[in-house]
Amino acid sequence: MSVNIPRGTQDILPGQSEKWQYIESIAKDVCRRYHYKEIRTPIFEHTELFKRSVGDTTDIVQKEMYTFEDRGERSLTLRPEGTAAVVRSFVENKMFGIPDQPVKLFYTGPMFRYERPQAGRYRQFVQFGVEAIGSEDPAIDAEVMALVMAIYKEAGLKKLKLVINSLGDAESRTAHREALVAHFKPRIDEFCSDCQSRLTQNPLRILDCKKDRGHELMATAPSILDYLNEESKAYFEKVTSYLDAMSIEYVIDPTLVRGLDYYNHTAFEIMSEAEGFGAITTLCGGGRYNGLVQQLGGPESPGIGFAFSIERFIAAMEAEQVEWQVDEGLDCFIVAIGDAAKDRSVSLVHDVRAAGLSADRDYQDRKMKAQLKASDRQKARFTAILGEDELAENRITVKDMSGGTQEQVPLNELAAYLKTTMEAN
Ligand code: HAM
Repeated sequence: MSVNIPRGTQDILPGQSEKWQYIESIAKDVCRRYHYKEIRTPIFEHTELFKRSVGDTTDIVQKEMYTFEDRGERSLTLRPEGTAAVVRSFVENKMFGIPDQPVKLFYTGPMFRYERPQAGRYRQFVQFGVEAIGSEDPAIDAEVMALVMAIYKEAGLKKLKLVINSLGDAESRTAHREALVAHFKPRIDEFCSDCQSRLTQNPLRILDCKKDRGHELMATAPSILDYLNEESKAYFEKVTSYLDAMSIEYVIDPTLVRGLDYYNHTAFEIMSEAEGFGAITTLCGGGRYNGLVQQLGGPESPGIGFAFSIERFIAAMEAEQVEWQVDEGLDCFIVAIGDAAKDRSVSLVHDVRAAGLSADRDYQDRKMKAQLKASDRQKARFTAILGEDELAENRITVKDMSGGTQEQVPLNELAAYLKTTMEAN
């Protein structure tokens, strides 16, 4: 009996995995330039962590977590996102004591959400994210957005829309919350059961409801931007002025609310506007979470960050038909004919690899023609042929597949010859 892959997960096979490595290497290099360092946290955490940070009333916590009890009867959860664990680690490792704040971190790894699988939505997906914790300077909000836009730009994506909003501070949010309740309450029975409980638990989330999106009260709902107090307004203006200063284009959308509870002030998402991109167009989400460090037992340390999934990044690259700058080819394929040549090719391929080049040979005892075909299929830059004559004369025939030239090279000089030829053009 064969066993299939679980729903909502995927195998990343050779041919695809190069694309993942490519995106991850761009993202890591941009992080290096912006001075963000890598953090690695566990894939599972205490369930309590997500309840207290992402929020008890969110879809993620209520419906989507992979929660299990371990043999010690502790409730653990496969992480649905990365921010909670990074903040936990920030507190646990007393990173608030580091003299240079904010602490600027990036991470990448699998996340797990029990969602209904569809294009761009998986149950296991890989996020790349950053968190800058320990500063309330609006310049860091702008920096984080500039960083993610730089990653997309570097990869060659163009059809993007950066959407931003301010959710304000606690005072502004309370005022807005009251206005939302007053707006929806008289007609809440026209809304879905989720929205009915959201009205008392978290009325902001009504604005994000997929089912009631078309209800007339949605369009006329009070806008958070009208409830920002002076401080929150000034903060948001600073953020947008810094984006302007860096010529980063954005759209302000007062209906942008995020699906996690820890946000305040700046919230943002990046959408793909490429034709043919699936129904789910959000590539990246992020925002500010002042208060989260305290909520998880640390001192007041304001933070901001974002995360995107590699899955949606790749989908956007494909939708925009961006050319992948990935090198799948092989530097040298060694074709050996006859038993003695085959034996000799073992150390020969080893020498080429030791010199830093990629090399391979036949392991199926194939005839010369089949080996040459294999070299072609594997897009080898050089095909090196070792037959009985060559072996007797201690040389090898090297074909440069890009130019079609052919040379005889002493056996012990093969690696050096390949290197010099490659460096020359
Ligand atoms: P989020 O909006 O829940 O935020 O997820 C961020 C990104 O993860 C999404 O924009 C999307 O690219 C990707 N994503 C989410 N769910 C799925 C899925 N089921 N399949 C594929 N991709 C998915 C967060 O997770 C926050 N922790 C972001 C953040 C970091 N905020 C501050 N710092």
